[in-house]
Amino acid sequence: MARQTPPNSPAAHQAGLDKDAPSLATRPAQGRSTGRQTQAIHGGEQPDPVTGASAPSLIISSTFVAEQVAGFSAHDMSDDPHRHVYARWGNPNVASLEAKIAGMEGVEACLCFASGMAAATGMFLTFLSAGDHCIISDVCYAGVAELARETLPRFGIEVSLVNLSDLDAVDAALRPNTRLIHAESPCNPIMRLCDLRALADRIHACGGLLSCDATFASPLGQDSAGLGVDLILHSITKYIGGHGDALGGAIAGSRALIDRLRMEAAIHHGGILSPFNAWLIGRGAATLPLRMEAHQRGAMAVAQALEAHPSVTKVLYPGLASHPQHALAQRQMQNFSGMMAFQVADAATGQALAERMIERMSIVHYAVSLGHHRSLIFWMPTQTLMDSSFHLEGANLAAYRDFAGDGVFRLSVGLEDPEDIIADLDAALSA
Ligand SMILES: Cc1ncc(COP(=O)(O)O)c(C=O)c1O
Repeated sequence: MARQTPPNSPAAHQAGLDKDAPSLATRPAQGRSTGRQTQAIHGGEQPDPVTGASAPSLIISSTFVAEQVAGFSAHDMSDDPHRHVYARWGNPNVASLEAKIAGMEGVEACLCFASGMAAATGMFLTFLSAGDHCIISDVCYAGVAELARETLPRFGIEVSLVNLSDLDAVDAALRPNTRLIHAESPCNPIMRLCDLRALADRIHACGGLLSCDATFASPLGQDSAGLGVDLILHSITKYIGGHGDALGGAIAGSRALIDRLRMEAAIHHGGILSPFNAWLIGRGAATLPLRMEAHQRGAMAVAQALEAHPSVTKVLYPGLASHPQHALAQRQMQNFSGMMAFQVADAATGQALAERMIERMSIVHYAVSLGHHRSLIFWMPTQTLMDSSFHLEGANLAAYRDFAGDGVFRLSVGLEDPEDIIADLDAALSA
């Protein structure tokens, strides 16, 4: 059966049939390379050559009609892993989103997953084997911290949980078999940064890889690839999707690394993104550059208001001069995003404030997750997080408490009018 899409057409490229064509995300527009806003809108997309539709169609078929007799295993497709055969191996909506994210990150390729956690699991299990050692940020998304502590050692992978903002601690942790450093910058929930260029230099000198969870920063917040990150991880549930209605994950990097990841983590582990979620997240991603500007603007206004509030004892926002790593933030980040953390007097005060927030706030939702157009806030007491996820002791616990004290409110500033967000927070903060 003949396909209607000519093999060399843009839509064929979107469908993954034209493997020699330059990536749509990086193809110059009339000889020029395009900017990030243009990448976010047009990356991975072309008008439908059959219907002329300007917006991407949703393609939900789980299988694709073959044009020639081929082997049944994914290994038989290894010369062309982007050709659509079966939806676990690749789908046009997912491929389009992958090209868009790769374009915004300025790298060759990207692979999407069913969630940020699926992306993290797929990455660790693809690039680490029994006998390997990896260094993982001692403070990172709680799910990743638990995976690192509880699951990876069961597969014979040695894990060191290290404060990556302390380069002496990193140097002391490196071993001959260290294959990966996994960073998160800014890290969840305390907004601590790490110097990605310094980490890349260290792990590359040992022949290993640097991965970074850049969910809080978004592709607009830092040039992760330019700083030496090999594997850029995003929970696309957050800023990239931006509307709180679809879970997804992504890892962006070189074609060689992402091809390896696709074969193992997508085709074999199977935690792939659904076409509908790719379509929704791609629609959200088109406005990411504009949303990030607005998130940063709103967050700066909210951070300054909180810093001046008598009930707030500390605000952690990389864009504030008071952030302990503001100089690094200015050097490493181009957008400080909408994420911040703030403290009140102690754990009991925090608990009572969280209860008042649930009762009194009408604009800021008291809920987990982040990066949505709606503002979200959540109370994260230090002791509870230590018991459940981080289990830090000694210098690592002291470094955590330097930032977080007895606990932080993690605030994701949305796109509402900043004065409404401030008034809502104030209603709860005023006892
Ligand atoms: C920084 C960070 N990374 C990864 C994840 C996991 O992403 P998902 O919920 O899409 O699995 C989260 C979730 O909150 C996160 O905040």
